[in-house]
Amino acid sequence: MSLLDVIFNLKAGKYTEDISGKMPAHIGIIPDGNGRWASRRGLPRSMGHRAGSNTLKRIVTYCDRIGLKYLTVYVFSTENWDRPQEEINTLMKLLEGYLQNAEKELAGTNVRIRIIGDLEGLSPELRKQIPRVEELTKNNSGLNLFFALNYGGRSEILHAVREIADDAAASKINPKDITKEIFEKYLYTKDVPDPDLIIRTSGEMRTSNFLIWQSVYSEYLFLNTRWPDFTERDMAEAIRGYAKRNRRYGGI
Ligand code: FPP
Repeated sequence: MSLLDVIFNLKAGKYTEDISGKMPAHIGIIPDGNGRWASRRGLPRSMGHRAGSNTLKRIVTYCDRIGLKYLTVYVFSTENWDRPQEEINTLMKLLEGYLQNAEKELAGTNVRIRIIGDLEGLSPELRKQIPRVEELTKNNSGLNLFFALNYGGRSEILHAVREIADDAAASKINPKDITKEIFEKYLYTKDVPDPDLIIRTSGEMRTSNFLIWQSVYSEYLFLNTRWPDFTERDMAEAIRGYAKRNRRYGGI
């Protein structure tokens, strides 16, 4: 029996290993290593991103099938604008294509897509496609897939602070009443549980401004695998490893 079958019997639609109560609700992914994957093969970096986007599509389908509720993928950070324009164009075109073909890309799944990040900096085509696809998938009850796009944790927090300041200036909120729960309502991730597990591929051990408020008690998994080589089996192993961890949230 393969590992995938051990954890989740896709045909029977049930868990075959006892990870009851230990299935993460929310997994975050930092899909690193597209460029290195391509360079090692003597290919242009754009081919690495293309391969990475195919991996992402497979992993999204897998996560939906195994009943994961939330998956957030860091597809473009506020710092990624520092890359060469050609590479930025490749990434934006991949995203545009994915959203333009969402009906086909998501066929057979029950995935709901949402985008978190600063949408104002994005191309007119992306700003057209994002509301279309969010509307198209809004009644889907399977995996909630978030693309963190032009996203940075610090800019998300600053955005929340500015909105709270506006509300305070308009007397809609009293600064004394601001609690953690109220603050979180101003984040892009309002109504989304904090990530239980964050996976970063390709050997880098840093968090790079990803969900910095939300990840204070997340479990991390750093893998050497380059993102295009990441498989459903790696995801199953990650979930299995997570299920064995002892989370204490600062307690004993
Ligand atoms: C990091 O690898 C990866 C990115 C900055 C982009 C992630 C994008 C995808 C996985 C594709 C998204 C596509 C769709 C259709 C949603 P890197 O370029 O930093 O790799 P390197 O560190 O080896 O140079």
